[in-house]
Amino acid sequence: MDITILGIESSCDDTSAAVLRNNVLLSNVIASQEVHRKYGGVIPELASRAHQQNIIPVVDTALREAGVTADRIDAIAFTRGPGLLGSLLVGVSFAKGLSIAHNIPMVEVNHLQGHILSHFIDLPDRKLPHPDFPFLCLLVSGGHTQIVRVDSPLEIEIIGTTIDDAAGEAFDKCAKVMGLPYPGGPVIDRLAAQGDDKAFRFARPRVDDLDYSFSGLKTSFLYTVRDEMEADPEFIEKRKADLCASLQKTIVEILLEKLVRASKATGIKDIAIAGGVSANSGLRNGIVAEGERRGWRTFLPEFKFTTDNAAMIAVSGYYRYKNGLLATPDSAPVARLEELL
Ligand code: KG4
Ligand code: ZN
Repeated sequence: MDITILGIESSCDDTSAAVLRNNVLLSNVIASQEVHRKYGGVIPELASRAHQQNIIPVVDTALREAGVTADRIDAIAFTRGPGLLGSLLVGVSFAKGLSIAHNIPMVEVNHLQGHILSHFIDLPDRKLPHPDFPFLCLLVSGGHTQIVRVDSPLEIEIIGTTIDDAAGEAFDKCAKVMGLPYPGGPVIDRLAAQGDDKAFRFARPRVDDLDYSFSGLKTSFLYTVRDEMEADPEFIEKRKADLCASLQKTIVEILLEKLVRASKATGIKDIAIAGGVSANSGLRNGIVAEGERRGWRTFLPEFKFTTDNAAMIAVSGYYRYKNGLLATPDSAPVARLEELL
């Protein structure tokens, strides 16, 4: 029997709702919050307020585009965390209200699991490539950088993680140093295309096992820019593209090195990437090239599934619902990943 899932995502600065029939996407509506741009980062209080304004029209549009009324939904999947508490609370409270009003069961979703399971969404007119189990996923977002081993949709083990900054944070913070707008990742990606990626060398982390570190790179980037600016105040303006290209290359190499090690250690050769930074062209090209060299099957998400979206929450909700994992009415949002595990 077909299962229709409404997904709701509100963990950071995008309000999103999506409808799936089984794993097939019927609609995916995202309202991005422009209000944070002028502050150079997400302001939590402003994010919660914008979610409150957006959530009803966004859900309404998602249902309408899918041609589904609320009473036809089998379950409401919502992001429980990790994320900004005030933002999460809007999605959780809305899900509860809708659940009570229409007597629909709810399913809690871990946002990071959502990013990973976005690889199992299909489009109405097109099946997308799905990795086989077990596979490895490099999860790279604004808040997290992890290598995970995925044995089934519900069995996910973190085998490597960042000990300080996330890869997305490294992009965003270095962008800020150069005076680029938030979020910096996509801007650096664009500028890097015109630069020389060998122009600058930045510090590389020395971290054991499969873990990552990006704070040393960030500091070394900061010092380079500061020293050069003292000598020439026009430095950033003149060398922006070279700085971006060199920084992006360094981040991609750091990410790939541990991923290669994880594949060797586990013998797993189905390799996926997910999360906002998986939109990065340097990372996408790098994974494909590494895969060709090493006999991997590589899985790159469609661009619309890289950054935060409710389709990934709905598909995770679908697998949880099928396994009878329903949320209770006292479900509450959690800010940190550790509280979810
Ligand atoms: O997954 P996501 O939308 O939100 C979180 O869950 O954190 O990821 C947002 C991050 C930001 O740091 C943003 O700069 C980065 O993804 N990002 C990129 C690109 N597009 C988004 N980083 C590098 N290159 C891109 N093209
Ligand atoms: Zn995310």
